[in-house]
Amino acid sequence: MVIVCAMTVDKVTTPKDSKWPRRVMVVGSGGREHAIVRQLAMNPKVARVYAVPGSDGMSGIEKVECVSLSIASSAFNELLNFASDANVELIVIGPEQPLADGLADVARARGFLVFAPSKEAAKLEASKIHAKELMRAAGVLTARSFVVSSVKETLDAARSFKPPYVLKADGLAAGKGVFIEKTLEGLEESARFLFEEKGLGDAGTQALLEEFSPGIELSHLVLTNGQGFISMPAARDHKRLLDGDEGPNTGGMGVVAPVPMEPGLLDRIERDVIAPVILEIERRGLLYRGVLYFGLMLTDEGPSVLEFNTRFGDPEAQVLMSLLNEAEGPDWLETLAAIADGQLPRLKWHEDRSVACLVLAAEGYPDAPVKGSVIEGLDEDGALAPVPAPEVAAGAASNEVLAARSGESTYVIHAGTRRKDGRFVTNGGRVMNVLAVSDRDMKTAIELAYASAARVSWKGLQVRKDIGRSLLDRLS
Ligand code: AMP
Ligand code: GLY
Repeated sequence: MVIVCAMTVDKVTTPKDSKWPRRVMVVGSGGREHAIVRQLAMNPKVARVYAVPGSDGMSGIEKVECVSLSIASSAFNELLNFASDANVELIVIGPEQPLADGLADVARARGFLVFAPSKEAAKLEASKIHAKELMRAAGVLTARSFVVSSVKETLDAARSFKPPYVLKADGLAAGKGVFIEKTLEGLEESARFLFEEKGLGDAGTQALLEEFSPGIELSHLVLTNGQGFISMPAARDHKRLLDGDEGPNTGGMGVVAPVPMEPGLLDRIERDVIAPVILEIERRGLLYRGVLYFGLMLTDEGPSVLEFNTRFGDPEAQVLMSLLNEAEGPDWLETLAAIADGQLPRLKWHEDRSVACLVLAAEGYPDAPVKGSVIEGLDEDGALAPVPAPEVAAGAASNEVLAARSGESTYVIHAGTRRKDGRFVTNGGRVMNVLAVSDRDMKTAIELAYASAARVSWKGLQVRKDIGRSLLDRLS
């Protein structure tokens, strides 16, 4: 599978400059940033990766230095002073908040090469109302919606729709701003939470009431320089907390990729959705050098846009890091640097590789994650502790046996942990990710991931048991 699609083919280039950045700063501290940091640190061209603020789980990686600086907008100058002093040559910004606060603009103004969209472009994620307006201007398929700012407006607007009702807070809400309600009573309660209890603060001052789109959901991420784009392999996220897509929405409970597409679907997505949006971004003169994440619903009418994220998804980034064929094309360092420089490199993706990523969440997630629970099953650096030899010999740990085959590997990524008294403890909602990579098939990747996840435990650990199942059902 080679997915290199550039709308404006003349803009596609292969970087000729062989002097790649040796010192990279990755901003963020979650699973997505751990995956990016890990990938860059494995690259022999990279001398140093500064993770700001990083995490205890990243600090054990060779060549990685975690720098405990604030990434709040009031501290941008201090952050960039550090980057200057450390001779950082490339800055990769992971999370949405510093993008919305304009870190990319401040860093560019100081001469850094930055992989991230500008503040103005990041409004595509930071405001759902703004995003909807751009979708309409681009003429792409998206659910009908109304802007609402009170309980009454919400209930009045709901008369135009059939249940379930989708209410989306306008601003950033860490994956907790979308309410899907089966009844008017439920909708009223969510509207009260936003508009009267101010449950999400300013992020919920306005909202979109949106028509429910039934269909199959897909995360389609592209690398873009704001003029053309490169599709990455499509991923299937699992947004609901519980098996069978039940329970509240979360930031994502697990991802599998690539999702095989029926003939013509990729072309249709690129032609009818991605290209018009990128064209609109170019028409508006937005400075966009990074990832644009299209949350899509494959409906009977065609691919419909649910949302934009102006960054790598979490946990989509975790699987994408392993899907780029770095041996046969530009590696991630070259790719991030080229996009930051406004180029579109020609990438090769692994054709026969499947990756599964499970999210292991804390007790109480998403409402009130319990912190401080001791995590069993990790070594002192936070990697999966080795399985005792007799168990392997007895065949008890099938994952170890499988993992021993070439082309297969499993590992953990830390998302919300910290080290306390020499042990790792839970320190956030999505605590860690267990990944499995298989060059055999998706079924093997999923089995491996579950077998490895079974080696990790803490009180109240939550993990979905059906990650990738719908994909496997479709493939069988
Ligand atoms: P968003 O942040 O807009 O992607 O919404 C979070 C999740 O809510 C999505 O990943 C979907 O699973 C679901 N969702 C959002 N909008 C809709 C819609 N119009 N119809 C059905 N599901 C939706
Ligand atoms: N996994 C969904 C997101 O990153 O927003």
